[in-house]
Amino acid sequence: MPEPLSAAIVGGSGYVGGELLRLLLAHPHVTVLQITSESQTGRPVHTVHPNLRSVTDLKFSQEGSLDAVDILFLALPHGSAAGRMDHFDGLAQRIIDCSADFRLRDAGVYAQWYGHAHPDPDRLPRFVYGLPERHRSELTGATHASGVGCNASATILALGPLADEGLLERVVADIKVGSSEAGSRPSESSHHPERSGVIRSFMPTGHRHQAEVVQTLGTGFDLSFSVTSVGLVRGVLVTAHCFLRAAVTEKDLWALYRNHYGSEPFIRLVNQRRGIHRYPEPRLTTGSNFCDVGFVVDQGSRHRRVVVLAALDNLVKGAAGSAVQSMNLMIGCDEVAGLGFPGLHPL
Ligand SMILES: NC(=O)c1ccc[n+]([C@@H]2O[C@H](COP(=O)([O-])OP(=O)(O)OC[C@H]3O[C@@H](n4cnc5c(N)ncnc54)[C@H](OP(=O)(O)O)[C@@H]3O)[C@@H](O)[C@H]2O)c1
Repeated sequence: MPEPLSAAIVGGSGYVGGELLRLLLAHPHVTVLQITSESQTGRPVHTVHPNLRSVTDLKFSQEGSLDAVDILFLALPHGSAAGRMDHFDGLAQRIIDCSADFRLRDAGVYAQWYGHAHPDPDRLPRFVYGLPERHRSELTGATHASGVGCNASATILALGPLADEGLLERVVADIKVGSSEAGSRPSESSHHPERSGVIRSFMPTGHRHQAEVVQTLGTGFDLSFSVTSVGLVRGVLVTAHCFLRAAVTEKDLWALYRNHYGSEPFIRLVNQRRGIHRYPEPRLTTGSNFCDVGFVVDQGSRHRRVVVLAALDNLVKGAAGSAVQSMNLMIGCDEVAGLGFPGLHPL
């Protein structure tokens, strides 16, 4: 691999763009040459991402001044990239689009969930869904990857082992999310007096990330998906009430989840008998690329209920971290390169 590879980030003044830059600045095989922002052109990156003060001298440039690079990251709002892929393809051989524009393979499913026809349906099959735990072999050497929905990632990683074994009959996934999931642009609902400390039902039904879960895990079980905004800045916690086709013990679940995830670098199984951190908790993943997964058998349930929990940082494992992990597979370097930050405690 000729080193270092050059990269650029489009939409770099947003939260995902900032996290991509933070991770890539520490990457051993990639150098970020440009990061774009139309609203901040010419300003030092640290004026928007103050955690990067003294870490980089980069300034925001305009999208129109982008030079060709080896890898282009798109961190634009949903709908901004899909109509311009000819342009972006002309700039880089490898593209990772963090938006939802190329996550779904089927244009009909896209129209059903997004309410309009996909502007570039012929390109959909070219993109690999950028969740390495499910698509490692397709991502290896790929040229195009989509980003992932953060709620979808947590749900897929929680349910994957049970779904693969055909054990799921019905799942009620209750998902709590922090405010950074909505991006950096302020809105009425993100106004501090309205957002602080909330437990606000956001999408009790109809959340678009459900389509990514069904695409990945199939239609072999009934999925209910409810999303609630909570008073965190970062973090997703999925509490999935799983009603199984066959009874299992906790020992069975340990064996199943260890078998699926034992060699996964960014999945930690969390199910401790003692202490206050017995189950996955989003705060403990803050800034890291980990997804913590845990499970409990409801001994008293007549419905073979198992509760599976998953926690991650929506801006890292739910966005920029999975994108960098996917890039590592695409360029053929160590899958964990640049992703070693373990999170913080206490926080
Ligand atoms: N936030 C998350 O937790 C998360 C998780 C997974 C995936 N994603 C996806 O990642 C992408 C970026 O998310 P984000 O949270 O970083 O969003 P964001 O904070 O709103 O950033 C988006 C950036 O795109 C630029 N932009 C260009 N055209 C724009 C337009 N028409 N309207 C608004 N901004 C525009 C903006 O910068 P300038 O105006 O300065 O150019 C803005 O900083 C989205 O597609 C999102 O769905 C986000």
